[in-house]
Amino acid sequence: MSDRTPVAIAIDGPAASGKSSTAQWVAERLGYRHVDSGSLYRALTAAMVRGGTSPESWTAEDVVAQGARITLEPEKHSFVALIDGAPADDEIRGTGVTANVSRVAVMPEVRSWVNEQVRRAAEAHDVVVDGRDMGTAVFPNAPLKVFLVADPWERARRRLTQRLGRRPTDDEVAEETDVLVQRDAKDATQTVQAKDAVLLDTTFLTQAEQVERIVALAHAVSHRPTVT
Ligand code: DC
Repeated sequence: MSDRTPVAIAIDGPAASGKSSTAQWVAERLGYRHVDSGSLYRALTAAMVRGGTSPESWTAEDVVAQGARITLEPEKHSFVALIDGAPADDEIRGTGVTANVSRVAVMPEVRSWVNEQVRRAAEAHDVVVDGRDMGTAVFPNAPLKVFLVADPWERARRRLTQRLGRRPTDDEVAEETDVLVQRDAKDATQTVQAKDAVLLDTTFLTQAEQVERIVALAHAVSHRPTVT
């Protein structure tokens, strides 16, 4: 990379809005690296779950201490969160972690730790970062901020199709919609749309279409004349 300042594109939005897969794809298209900030909250939670203590007793101090075991490893088009030097993707996406990650993500000290790791990753690489508050708390000057939303039913349908590998029934989607709406409520304080973010409703878009729109926006902002 040249000696110019690296670019960070921020993609925020609620659970299952397709942020991570979209951010990964956009990063590949632009030759950037994807940073999934949620994976850091998940890795900290997984490290705590391994410890076997009751989640109700977890303190911010305990959680942040797990940070010493977690690294963000650069790969071709992404940064991967490792625990004790090893990938733990299945573990961090598992139910034990998903059920407890929100309690960890509300702790201000934990948020500072995660934000610091994300900032560091972005120091030497162009990145596409996804999360809940990347465009506000971490990259307020990002040249492009996108806030992805989609109807809860559609988010639930997509998530289940991916998880089950088949078309879910309406009853299954209804049940998953309830779970998602509850998660939205738990994460609501942390999920912030920047004033200058482009709002992209993906309810009626395919993933390829949403990637195209964001790549087009990224090209448009990179050709915008600099105001001095
Ligand atoms: O996007 P996800 O499901 O992997 O996020 C996991 C949890 O971390 C979820 O409770 C929201 C939280 N999170 C957050 O508060 N801020 C971020 N920047 C990213 C995730």
